[in-house]
Amino acid sequence: MNIVLGVGGGIAAYKAAELARALVQAGARVQVVMTRAATEFVQPLTFAALTGQKVITDLFPAGGGEAALASAVEHIAVAQQNELLVVAPATADLMAKFAHGAADDFLSTLHLAFTGPILLAPAMNSNMWTHPATRANLAILRERGCHVVEPEEGFLACGVTGPGRLADPEHIAGEATRLLTGRKDLDGETILITAGPTEEPIDPVRFISNRSSGKMGYALATAARDRGARVIVVSGPVQIPAPAGVTVIPVRTASEMRDAVLRHLEDATIVVKAAAVADFHLARVAQQKIKKTAARVSLELDPTPDILSEIGRKKGDRLLIGFAAETQDLKQEAKRKLESKNCDMIVANMVGQQGTGFESDDNEVTLVLRTGEVVDLPRGSKRDIASQIFDRALQLRLALYAAR
Ligand code: CTP
Repeated sequence: MNIVLGVGGGIAAYKAAELARALVQAGARVQVVMTRAATEFVQPLTFAALTGQKVITDLFPAGGGEAALASAVEHIAVAQQNELLVVAPATADLMAKFAHGAADDFLSTLHLAFTGPILLAPAMNSNMWTHPATRANLAILRERGCHVVEPEEGFLACGVTGPGRLADPEHIAGEATRLLTGRKDLDGETILITAGPTEEPIDPVRFISNRSSGKMGYALATAARDRGARVIVVSGPVQIPAPAGVTVIPVRTASEMRDAVLRHLEDATIVVKAAAVADFHLARVAQQKIKKTAARVSLELDPTPDILSEIGRKKGDRLLIGFAAETQDLKQEAKRKLESKNCDMIVANMVGQQGTGFESDDNEVTLVLRTGEVVDLPRGSKRDIASQIFDRALQLRLALYAAR
């Protein structure tokens, strides 16, 4: 296990020494990177002694010349050599930098160059932790696929009691090793995922779309990446960041989505169609903005290509997972779509339920499988649901092979 431990500048930096020791004891080779502020709290020598490795503190070390040249590319080497980036304490400043892609020191630059899983262990004053700016930055990082060990409630160095205390270093080390030794059962797979809505233009300023946020598709992408898959996401326009380490192909219309999916179908071993594709597009898109001179405007709509059905015809041995958003007759509709679109699994969800579905972080779905099984998954986070979808998909593939 090769882990890079980023240490931010907060009082809790001293606990990062315990974390470094716990990671080494768990069998990891630990490369410590400290921010300049972190070195104000703890000496690099402490970490060097605990890990047996030189500690990196600067993008450009004092002395310049050839030493600076070597270190100018070191963040790329460190990014490539390590399988996990753990940041503890993740200060408010570090999370702001990561969320917005700043790269003005070694750790923030490494963060941008790093494509593996990231584990953040925040620690800060309670007001800083609950500040809307910190909440927003954390939401961006979570959506991008970062894992977070939440801070604990307790007495803080600033004299107040509240949330913000760094989680127990043993607990953080446990999460880190779990992420690394966790299942890599999608290693060798190329998973093609569609996500988000599509937009069908009406005229140069208007379009038809739907309420899909892309959260389910991006959660699937994160789960697949964490389990070792190569992931390609064909994404309609969404407001959420893509997980690091996956290839995103942005598209707008159903027709563009179809072309992108077909271009990458050859490489894929599993295809997951989580996108909410528009069913209709305009027969003729107005070249100029439609003016409000007429009392009534009618839009003539033609069906869009049904991408899922087309892949169903061309899928070969690939596992094909479709989605079905329904407002009634959930299971019957899901079964009908499974058959008519030649899918191996349909992930069906009732739309219009409180706290699940479109913009929500949670979902509640029923899986309808080609084997005839119907599995109701309990309500959970989209990340958990995504993971269970892949569990079932792998079992299903074994069952389908065995039945041949
Ligand atoms: N889908 C697709 N291309 C379309 C429409 C839908 O690939 N033009 C896919 C979606 O990505 C989803 C599945 O088909 O995986 C089911 O989408 P849904 O909107 O629930 O079903 P429809 O096929 O549109 O059927 P209906 O309108 O009867 O509900």
